Amino acid sequence: MAIRNIRLEGDEILKKKSREVETIDEKLQILIDDMIETMHKYNGVGLAAVQVGILKRVIVIDLYDDKGPITLINPVILKTKGEHEVDEGCLSFPNQFAKVLRPEEVVAEYTNREGKRIKVKAKDLLAQAICHEVDHLNGELFMDKIIPGTLEYVEPEEDKK
Ligand code: NI
Repeated sequence: MAIRNIRLEGDEILKKKSREVETIDEKLQILIDDMIETMHKYNGVGLAAVQVGILKRVIVIDLYDDKGPITLINPVILKTKGEHEVDEGCLSFPNQFAKVLRPEEVVAEYTNREGKRIKVKAKDLLAQAICHEVDHLNGELFMDKIIPGTLEYVEPEEDKK
């Protein structure tokens, strides 16, 4: 496994649309392992493949609960319910946080890394993470949909070495 470079704000690739995954091969499994490791290294809740420079419809999410990291290949949001204001950040926009409107609940479908198609009903943070990451796959960034006047810069904690 390896930490991959995260593409940052201003990188044109972040505006590109990712392509459907056709086969789940060893190369894809390595990408997924690397994405999980990279997400964990930077304490992210989610990461899309485009953020490490790969235009494939793959996302990883970890809410740091007992479920562990989940991998969503070719995810599709089928239904959304409600709307609320939430705080959001993105590993491609380090130290920047803002409020956005997100659905309270989503029903989504995706293929897991074992190749099984799964339907999930998600709410709150999981729903938010799925929406944020699926936006990445469509070249959409949270910074373009923030509620005006809510952007905050938070100084990073000093590295503990
Ligand atoms: Ni993001």
